[in-house]
Amino acid sequence: MKNIDSYTHVRGESLFVDDLITRQDTLQGLVFDSPKAHGKITSIDYSKAKNLKGVVNIFTHKDILGENQIGGIIPDEPLWAENEVHFCGQPIAFIVAETELIAKKARALISIEIEELPIITTAKEAKEKGSFINAPRSFNLGNTKTSFDACDYVYEGKTFTNGQEHLYLETQGCYVVPLENGNIKITSSTQGPTQVQKTAAKVLGIPMHKIEVDVIRLGGGFGGKEDQATPWAVMAAVAVQHLNKPVKFMLNRHDDLRMTGKRHPYESTFKIGLTKDLKINAFEAEFLQNSGAAADLSPAIAERTLFHATNSYFIPNVHTTVLSCKTNLPPNTAFRGFGGPQGMFVIEAAIAKAANALKIDKRLIQEANLLAENDEFSYGQIATQVEAKSSWTTAKEQFKLEQLEQEIDDFNQKNFLSKKGISVMPIAFGISFTNTPMNHARALVHIYQDGSIGVSTGAVEMGQGVNTKMLQVAAEILGVHQSKVKLETTNTTRVANTSPTAASSTADLNGKAVEMACNLLIERLTKVASKMLSVAEKEIVFREDRVFINTKKSTLLWEEVIAQAMLQRIALSENAHYATPIIHFDKTVEKGHPFAYHVYGTAITTITLDCLRGTYEVDAVKIVHDFGKSMNLQIDIGQVEGALAQGIGWMTLEEIAYNNEGRLESNALSTYKVPDIFSAAKTIDIIPLKTAGNTLAIKKSKAVGEPPLMYGIGAYFAIEHAVKAFNPNYLSKFHAPFTPEKVLTGLYEKKSETLNH
Ligand code: MTE
Ligand code: HPA
Ligand code: MOS
Repeated sequence: MKNIDSYTHVRGESLFVDDLITRQDTLQGLVFDSPKAHGKITSIDYSKAKNLKGVVNIFTHKDILGENQIGGIIPDEPLWAENEVHFCGQPIAFIVAETELIAKKARALISIEIEELPIITTAKEAKEKGSFINAPRSFNLGNTKTSFDACDYVYEGKTFTNGQEHLYLETQGCYVVPLENGNIKITSSTQGPTQVQKTAAKVLGIPMHKIEVDVIRLGGGFGGKEDQATPWAVMAAVAVQHLNKPVKFMLNRHDDLRMTGKRHPYESTFKIGLTKDLKINAFEAEFLQNSGAAADLSPAIAERTLFHATNSYFIPNVHTTVLSCKTNLPPNTAFRGFGGPQGMFVIEAAIAKAANALKIDKRLIQEANLLAENDEFSYGQIATQVEAKSSWTTAKEQFKLEQLEQEIDDFNQKNFLSKKGISVMPIAFGISFTNTPMNHARALVHIYQDGSIGVSTGAVEMGQGVNTKMLQVAAEILGVHQSKVKLETTNTTRVANTSPTAASSTADLNGKAVEMACNLLIERLTKVASKMLSVAEKEIVFREDRVFINTKKSTLLWEEVIAQAMLQRIALSENAHYATPIIHFDKTVEKGHPFAYHVYGTAITTITLDCLRGTYEVDAVKIVHDFGKSMNLQIDIGQVEGALAQGIGWMTLEEIAYNNEGRLESNALSTYKVPDIFSAAKTIDIIPLKTAGNTLAIKKSKAVGEPPLMYGIGAYFAIEHAVKAFNPNYLSKFHAPFTPEKVLTGLYEKKSETLNH
């Protein structure tokens, strides 16, 4: 089944915030933000800006009737700065004018004086100065203190992975309209409508029921709108509260790039110990997360780093620690993988380091340590329905790995200025919000009297196809054609108290709720049909827009049953609540069973390197992926391809750069390079792994949004392989992204030159 949005998308008819027809008296908002990364505000003069014709007002923290606080996990972030600023781009005031152009002119007329304070931009510096968001966390399994002694080989090293810009096509934005009695309607491009509602209520000092948040769809979120869509909506809501007029606020690309947080850069150290048979016996890592100037989602992201620090390997002795380091950068935030990729890069680097030292192929160590049934993760969960070895073996066989390796060796023997590289990247990604209480969702299903159906859930459509999946679930359970089902917008008055659309869990959580609501409706309709046909209830089946008696078609149509149910005054609406069973986690001991299940897979990446220029091309990525039993392979394959491209971008091209003053230098698409059609993998082969699926996944169709991003890590190691083929003296830096500049330096370095970071 096609994505239900595809028709309007390709015709340019799909609606986004900026497409909404606005009221005639709509005003435009624009943020005035800090030009300095850290300092005391000694004076601000708004008078010239306020006097500009067409400027309606400029709002600051003084206009907040509730609390000036937007921190979700830790209350450490004001909506608008008061006396101090902590990062370049920090919102200080909100200009409301008749047009965006006037607002921009007004912004240029604001003068500010800041007494500068020392700034920190790197995680390492923050650690040295003791600047943290919260207390460190550690996971422990076995005993690393004693187990390194039992190892034949022990290696240590350090790694760096840079941040990543979300670059959703639709920038952050909202349209806020006053209703009667001080009620406000917010249309927001957010992954977390309830988060917007709750935060707006707190800042405006009004109850949540006075605020309705509606989300049509997003032009991409990728985690960047899980928490960071909130401030813009709240700013506009404050203005609406005072002005009683609609306010629209779409960030332009420059403002969005400058003011929003990104994937967290990580600086990490590791120690890995192996026995002679290449078993990893012990692993230690310390992760320094560059959190930025406020917590945002950093503590949850840090936690997921620990959960994924051993990727798809079993290691009996593990000690990992993560520190969320407070720096003077925009607060970094959720990004596809949510800290998992940063953790997984480190174990892959540790394995590579060991392989380099032992002068063996990295994949031999990977292969010797793949997770097996009943192995224990460092957080106490026992692995079941494990597909680490099966996906590896299938990839190895189906894609003829050994032959590929041989071909690459032969190529490298024959060619001097062109080298090829190959890597294998297995993944294991835990599905569920790591914060157990967030794993719930609701659905509201209406059957209208003509038999057509409307479904509301807490899921936000952001291109991942969740609405299509919700529609498929409803149509299948109700036994009607897909054209009978409509997916409504995501609205806090229809489905309340939602968790954000995140953690790849949206289809599972909301889909299960849709399934439950539809089953309740079918229970009732079965009674009606059974009477109408005078057959036992257990023989009634709803299928193909009519009633079947077991497998036999009857003449009774769906519409007729609905009409009869109406006459009998039977409720045709149902609401259901789903909460993931089984999962739990005890933070006091850092043990539990946090994930409903894991998603597995294996990717083989091959690249070709131009050793004169340092440029490379990804020739092919060959993947065996564990979809469970995919309910929509077209959508799921799209998710794998998109995530892979994003992962490769993170590992190779996308280089976030802040200067020493904490100002973003990669602040435009001319200075920040995302993968395009030329840098995408030339071919992508995806084989769905044959598996039984998992009953906690919706219709046994496993979550797919984030896991494949980490296949992109394979590109880093494939490039490194090619660099080493040209320059045997090259010493691994494990410093991503592996940009052509770094590759070129590596190709011609004589001896160890470690990068400063
Ligand atoms: N796919 C598209 N096209 N656009 C997006 O913004 N976000 C990703 C992923 N796939 C995203 C996407 C992220 S970060 C997550 S967590 C999941 O989708 C969320 O949706 P799901 O829970 O329905 O998989
Ligand atoms: N994943 C994504 N988003 C989240 C999570 C998570 O585990 N926890 C809180 N927000
Ligand atoms: Mo995704 S990073 O959980 O929004």
